[in-house]
Amino acid sequence: MDAKSLIKGKVHYVGVNDRNKHLFEGMWPLSYGVSYNSYLIDDDIVALVDTVDACYFEVFLRKIRNIIGDRPIQYLIVNHMEPDHSGSIRLLKHYYPDIVIVGNKQTFGMIEGFYGVTGERYEVKEGDFLDLGYHKLRFYLTPMVHWPETMMTYDETDGVLFAGDAFGCFGTLDGGFIDTRINTDKYWDEMVRYYSNIVGKYGNPVQKALAKFAGVDIKAICSTHGPVWTENIPRVVGIYDRLSRYEAEEGVVIAYGTMYGNTEQMAEAIAAELSAQGIRNIVMHNVSKSHPSYILMDVFKYKGLIVGSPTYSNQIYPEMAALLDKILLREIKGRYLGYFGSFCWAGAAVKRMGEFAEKSKFEIVADPVEMKQAMKEITYEQCEHLARAMAERLKKDRV
Ligand code: FEO
Repeated sequence: MDAKSLIKGKVHYVGVNDRNKHLFEGMWPLSYGVSYNSYLIDDDIVALVDTVDACYFEVFLRKIRNIIGDRPIQYLIVNHMEPDHSGSIRLLKHYYPDIVIVGNKQTFGMIEGFYGVTGERYEVKEGDFLDLGYHKLRFYLTPMVHWPETMMTYDETDGVLFAGDAFGCFGTLDGGFIDTRINTDKYWDEMVRYYSNIVGKYGNPVQKALAKFAGVDIKAICSTHGPVWTENIPRVVGIYDRLSRYEAEEGVVIAYGTMYGNTEQMAEAIAAELSAQGIRNIVMHNVSKSHPSYILMDVFKYKGLIVGSPTYSNQIYPEMAALLDKILLREIKGRYLGYFGSFCWAGAAVKRMGEFAEKSKFEIVADPVEMKQAMKEITYEQCEHLARAMAERLKKDRV
C-alpha cells in the first residue's frame, strides 16, 4: 500500500498530471497544466471513481496496482463521461473484464457510443447506495455540471464528496494533492478561468447541485481536476456559488480590437477616465493578444464590460466577434455594458455590437461612441462620457 496516495479512510488518489497538452478541449491554454483526478477506494470491495485521459493509462494502472496489487476492482463509478475522465474505460475493462460500471441512465449510452463498452452495470438513480464495507456511497444526479450524465458520489462514512468537474480548476498537482500540504496560490485564478471557460454556461445546474449538498457534512471534496479540498472547502464552495450566480465585483473589463492603434486610443481614454472616477479594478485586453480564455475569466470577475472594435469588411473585427460569441454562449447575466468602435469609410462595427448588446440583455450604461479614422476632441469627450456613466453605475452598487 502506498501511504503517500492516501486521502481519508481507504480513499487513495490515483490521478495523473498533464504538462504536455497546450490547449484543453482544443481551445483553452494550460499555463500550469492540468490534472485528471481519479480515486481508488481500497475497501472490502474495491471501487474506482472516474478514470483519466487515455494517454496516461500506463501511469494510472501502475498507481492502481501499487495500492491493490493483483486484487480486482469490483466497481468503476463514472461520475462524468467527458473523455478527459472516461478515456481509460476501454483499457480498464480490458485489464478488469469483470468490473461493474456504475452510472446513471444517461451514462451507459455514452460509454457504448464512445468506447463500445457494454457488460455488467449498476444503473443508479438519485439517492441510490453502494456499501463497500467501510465506505458507504450515495449517488446524487447533478445533470449539466457539466454534461447531462454528470453525477456526484458522496461517502457517508468520512464525508468525502467525489464531485466530478465541480470545484475543479486548471493546474497540475506538483508533489502533493491535498490542499493542506501544498501551496494553493496558483489555483485560485485558475479556478475562475476553469469555471468561466468550461462550466460557465451552466450556472443554474451548479446552483441546483449546491442546494442539494447544502446540509451535507463535507470533509473533503475530490474533484476531477485540481487539489483535493479540505481546509479550503468554504472558499472553494464560495467561489463556485458566486460564479454560478454570475455575481461579480466592482471593476471594468475593456476588451478591444485594434489594427493601427486608433481604436486602442479610445480604450485608453475610457480607462483613464474610469480611473479618474475612482474605479480601481480596470483590466484591458487587446483581443488580438489576450487569449479569450483570460478575457472570459475577467468578464466573470468584474461587473462592468466595455467592448470596442474597428470596422472590418463591414463587420465587427473578427477577433472581437469571436469573443462576443463566447460571451453570449455562456449566458452571463447582470453585467453593465458600454461599447465603442471606429471605421475608415463606412461604419458597421458599432451597429453590429448593438446587436450583441441586445442579445446579451446587459444593462447599457450610455450611448455607444463611434469614431471616424482617428481621435478628435469630440471623441475624447464622448469616451469620457461613456466612462463616467459606467463609473456612476458601478458606484450606485456600493453599500
Ligand atoms: Fe474535466 Fe467535463 O470534463
